[in-house]
Amino acid sequence: MSSTSNAGKSLLGIEVLDRSEIEWILDRGRRHKRKPGEGVKKLDTLRGKSIVNLFFEPSTRTKASFELAAKRLGADTISISGEGSSLSKGESLVDTLNTLAAMLPDTIVMRHSASGAPQFLSRYLSTPIINAGDGQHEHPTQALLDALTILEHRNSLEGLRVAIIGDISHSRVARSNVHLLSKFGAEIVLCGPATMLPPALKQLAPGISLTHNMVEAVTDADVIMMLRVQLERQNVLNFPKNEYFQFYGLQLAHLDRARPDAIVMHPGPINRGRELSSEVADSPRSMILNQVENGVAIRMAVLERVCGDS
Ligand code: CP
Repeated sequence: MSSTSNAGKSLLGIEVLDRSEIEWILDRGRRHKRKPGEGVKKLDTLRGKSIVNLFFEPSTRTKASFELAAKRLGADTISISGEGSSLSKGESLVDTLNTLAAMLPDTIVMRHSASGAPQFLSRYLSTPIINAGDGQHEHPTQALLDALTILEHRNSLEGLRVAIIGDISHSRVARSNVHLLSKFGAEIVLCGPATMLPPALKQLAPGISLTHNMVEAVTDADVIMMLRVQLERQNVLNFPKNEYFQFYGLQLAHLDRARPDAIVMHPGPINRGRELSSEVADSPRSMILNQVENGVAIRMAVLERVCGDS
């Protein structure tokens, strides 16, 4: 592997970003949002740049939005998935990354099931890497698009009560959101069954509270962020879907406990009847599709930061 030169441009996680970097991305993302009635603008900010999307885990939202974001900025993109790559012929991850880097792309967007994979590779690769989700560790662009979504409904993150509910222990979305929200002074409540909420998670950031009681979590919440149960990261043969929904599924009655203008979020993909009811998912309080829309704008901003010349 070659030694680093552009490593500083990589976006590997929220934990290592400072507030001003996050604010820059949010401001820039806001500018990339379409106004009502406006068509999609094609820009040439990244004309001549090439971006490799390398996804070793399934994805709909992140992969499609990174590709659209790159195209809207005028960049050339290619997408490679784990199954279709020479990894299936025995090539190591390091050799695959070195091979792609030898084609001189300007940025590699990477999702991998191993926590820390992009951080490890970025130490040696001269191509900047954007972490599109690594194992149970971080999903930085998800937290950024979530912050943009919340800020479309609130003036500030400071003092907001955000309940993050579900399979916390396996969730990179939860970790990135905790890092971002705590940097901006939000009050964070993590909620889930004991098997998905180890007490050590309290150490993620100062001032977090943990509860196994869903009603307690949603009471007076400004934001209710539901998480998918990540069965692919657990050795569970018969997940008790009905029991889980009974205790940790978001239903309309829960919204009466939250603030009257509380919003409901979910990073997707959602499982109706497991993490939330269809009535909640399709209610006016649900920001799930707004999050998807904001994903394109935020990823445009992130690509500009990592791949742009200035
Ligand atoms: N939220 C999220 O990462 O969704 P995808 O797995 O579809 O990319």
